[in-house]
Amino acid sequence: MVLPFGGSNPSTPKFFYMNPLDNILFFSGSSHLKLAKEIADLLKKPLGEILLERFPDGETRVEVKQNVRGKNVFVLQSPVKEVDHYIMELLLIIDALKRASADKITVLMPYFAYGRQDKKTTAREPVSARLIANLLETAGATHVVTFDLHAPQVQGFFNIPVDNLETRPLLVEKIKSQVDVKNLVVVSPDVGRNTLARLFAHDLKASMAVVDKRRVGVKDVKIEALMGEVQEKDVLIVDDMMSTGSTLKAASKLCREGGAKKIYVALCHGPLIQELRDDAIDKIFTTNTTAAVKDPSVSVAPIYASAIKKMAVGDSLLPLYQGKF
Ligand code: R5P
Repeated sequence: MVLPFGGSNPSTPKFFYMNPLDNILFFSGSSHLKLAKEIADLLKKPLGEILLERFPDGETRVEVKQNVRGKNVFVLQSPVKEVDHYIMELLLIIDALKRASADKITVLMPYFAYGRQDKKTTAREPVSARLIANLLETAGATHVVTFDLHAPQVQGFFNIPVDNLETRPLLVEKIKSQVDVKNLVVVSPDVGRNTLARLFAHDLKASMAVVDKRRVGVKDVKIEALMGEVQEKDVLIVDDMMSTGSTLKAASKLCREGGAKKIYVALCHGPLIQELRDDAIDKIFTTNTTAAVKDPSVSVAPIYASAIKKMAVGDSLLPLYQGKF
């Protein structure tokens, strides 16, 4: 980046070169400091100085403690558990950065909260994902980078760029290193995950089966049938997230009843509430997109660090989708 250099002294240079990476600042909300520190280490940058606290009445107080004028700012927040507090905190951080004249404000939201409510399913429900998109934009976000949106069309709720990165390349590499994939069937736990399961099946050169699932409440699901052959096979159930665990429990039970031998699970996000205790499941492969996961198999930090560097210099993010970071 070549910038004009002010001053009337004829001996001073007219232009100087500025490395775009020097113009980056990286801040974090309070939801996932472990991931934030990992990314900051990879970027070889300190975390931005910011005060995050609560007023005695429970309201959130934010104060950015360093100059951000003209900077290319990235903010990490991954809202789970105290979801609404973390969203409010993020909105206040963005607002503070905007009012302090940050040039660009990119939100890194590895897990896009409220992403499952992307349409009305009964007469008088909100479209919560759309509202979150509106709030982020109104606050001043100029770009969002997330992972594995529950519904990729949520990108269309924004009028700013949204990069929907994938954890699949990381998970596939890990699975290949720990599982004998020759006898593997990839299982989609509901028809909504067919596309994701097919991509895993392609990467692992495995066949596929699908569970016919119906949700019958916020905590319960009804499993109707398993379409495909799992007899004497090892199965990998693939889902974008685990919340209560009822989907995975039901799917793994069905696979066992169908004669499956080992049962593995691959999750992009979660467990979001607590670890799943189910003897039917041999191993869960998951990521650190949220702080709720105690023992993630892989970290998304290298992908985010690479994305930040690429965005800073205007490079394509496409290689990140192919596991090149
Ligand atoms: C649903 O469509 C999602 O892909 C997950 O299967 C679901 O959100 C998991 O939730 P739970 O663990 O509560 O069944």
